[in-house]
Amino acid sequence: MLERRWLTPDLEVSVLGLGTVKLGRNTGVKYPTVFDLPSDTEAANLLAVARELGINLLDTAPAYGLAEMRLGQLIKGQRDHWILGSKVGEDYDGDSHFDFTRSGAERSLARSLTRLGTDHLDYCLLHSDGNDHDVLNSGAMDALARARDNGDVRAIGISSKTPAGAMRAIELGLDIVMMTINPEHRDEIPAAQQALNANTGVLVKKAMGSGHLSARESLSMVSQVPGVSAIITGTLNPAHLRTNVQALI
Ligand SMILES: NC(=O)c1ccc[n+]([C@@H]2O[C@H](COP(=O)([O-])OP(=O)(O)OC[C@H]3O[C@@H](n4cnc5c(N)ncnc54)[C@H](OP(=O)(O)O)[C@@H]3O)[C@@H](O)[C@H]2O)c1
Repeated sequence: MLERRWLTPDLEVSVLGLGTVKLGRNTGVKYPTVFDLPSDTEAANLLAVARELGINLLDTAPAYGLAEMRLGQLIKGQRDHWILGSKVGEDYDGDSHFDFTRSGAERSLARSLTRLGTDHLDYCLLHSDGNDHDVLNSGAMDALARARDNGDVRAIGISSKTPAGAMRAIELGLDIVMMTINPEHRDEIPAAQQALNANTGVLVKKAMGSGHLSARESLSMVSQVPGVSAIITGTLNPAHLRTNVQALI
């Protein structure tokens, strides 16, 4: 059975989560091979396999093109099964656009709730453009704090791009930090340890270097880093999803 860990004191997640970039976007991405977006049937099958394997964590973002909209359709009638997270700050319409104003983040979050067909997100992260410190001081940060206060989101954090940004988010007491850790990117391991000390949840992105590293070896290494709550991996292939779960059992 796939292990569950506490992401926050209220959110218990499977150690493997499903990232949804490839459900909605196949341009301006750095995957090793080009791919078509999955059909609705293929996407529904992927989610059913994820659920059968014990996965309860879905990560999405407005920056993933059609992903939020598609996910909203796919999880209709099964919202309660999923721990569902999205982001604010970046949008994608063929090009990336960043907006870290308070009003921009409020609009983005409202749109995410509509697209996902839900009245709340389990978490919402600042989708950093690389300037982590500025993003953490932005109006978008205030918007997320307010959204947590009024129940639109249960936990807030940042998808950081730098070790210093991850550390700063932990110092600020955010609930969750999403960071990159894999066998070739170890700079953020001290931040994960710091997060453990501070009771901050850690989500790992790009654990397989966006598909450039061995799945089994990478997942096994990352899952053992102290502080890591869950690894978000993106795949469109149910067989790969099974392999990835097996690597963690
Ligand atoms: N917030 C951010 O700034 C940010 C940035 C990047 C990612 N993320 C989140 O993190 C998630 C994961 O990141 P990622 O997709 O960049 O990287 P990743 O999980 O390291 O790699 C995904 C790639 O690995 C391949 N893959 C997965 N399992 C495999 C297996 N068993 N064997 C061979 N290939 C395998 C997938 O291809 P197949 O489809 O062929 O399996 C896909 O192309 C995203 O979906 C997203 O939710 C967030």
